[in-house]
Amino acid sequence: MKASQTRGKTSQGRLEALDDFVAHAFEELVKGDARGGLLVDLGVGGNPWTTLEWADAMAEIPAAGAVVGVDHHEARIEHARRLAEGAVDMRVGDFDLPLRAGEAVALLRVMNVLRQYPPAEVADIHARLVGQVAVGGCVLEGTCSPDGEVMGVLQLRRTDDGHRREGLWLRTDFSKGFSPWLFRDRLPRDLRREARPGGRAWPLFGPWLEAWEQERAAGGTPVEVFARTARRLAEVIDGVSTDPWLLERGMLWWRPEGGVG
Ligand SMILES: C[S@@+](CC[C@H](N)C(=O)[O-])C[C@H]1O[C@@H](n2cnc3c(N)ncnc32)[C@H](O)[C@@H]1O
Repeated sequence: MKASQTRGKTSQGRLEALDDFVAHAFEELVKGDARGGLLVDLGVGGNPWTTLEWADAMAEIPAAGAVVGVDHHEARIEHARRLAEGAVDMRVGDFDLPLRAGEAVALLRVMNVLRQYPPAEVADIHARLVGQVAVGGCVLEGTCSPDGEVMGVLQLRRTDDGHRREGLWLRTDFSKGFSPWLFRDRLPRDLRREARPGGRAWPLFGPWLEAWEQERAAGGTPVEVFARTARRLAEVIDGVSTDPWLLERGMLWWRPEGGVG
């Protein structure tokens, strides 16, 4: 039985686009065959829908690692266990992940959690989190709007000697049209308010806004303008993916050589 079949009609589904992106872009990590890694969802929430949905999505991938839900709120984990009915392992824990002997983490998802924490603490939290992921594995940390129409996720890659801020993935469902400004308030915690001249996110947003001004003048639907803008952007800064699968879905994936912000 699918983990999310136990849910009622209140499913939010707000991270489904991220589930699709993870299946598309991180299949190797999800399979974790080399690492035998878990897929940990830190911050299950008051209702665990997004964790159960992630487990369902990953179960479609042959040999995928198991999803484990973690939250420091004990009552939420008790509630999550009741709803998961054993289909997903739900554990009480915090930034020090409740791992058992022999377990390794391939992917650690941290969505809509760090927005409650002061920006000054974020670098330490990132280092602490990514330090618990297997070398080569990733932390995906970000924020989305309540229904997931707009999302921003930072990708941190564990390396032998620390981690790299490897990529930034932004996504819109176009329900609010398209402008790079849509993402300004949905950026991962330490890039929030950084989409301004001189800010950490400006190396992306500066050229993206310029490309958008040019492409929107040429007209077309928001989807067309988004895709053309991304292709134009890829000509002027490094690391912008022009994979049609991403562009058709309103996803901009930026992996600059020198890292993000
Ligand atoms: C807004 S919910 C996010 C739910 C889900 N990830 C989503 O995006 O739909 C945030 C959850 O993070 C949990 N949380 C916050 N800080 C945490 C920490 N240090 N360790 C574990 N859980 C934490 C809260 O208890 C809350 O349930």
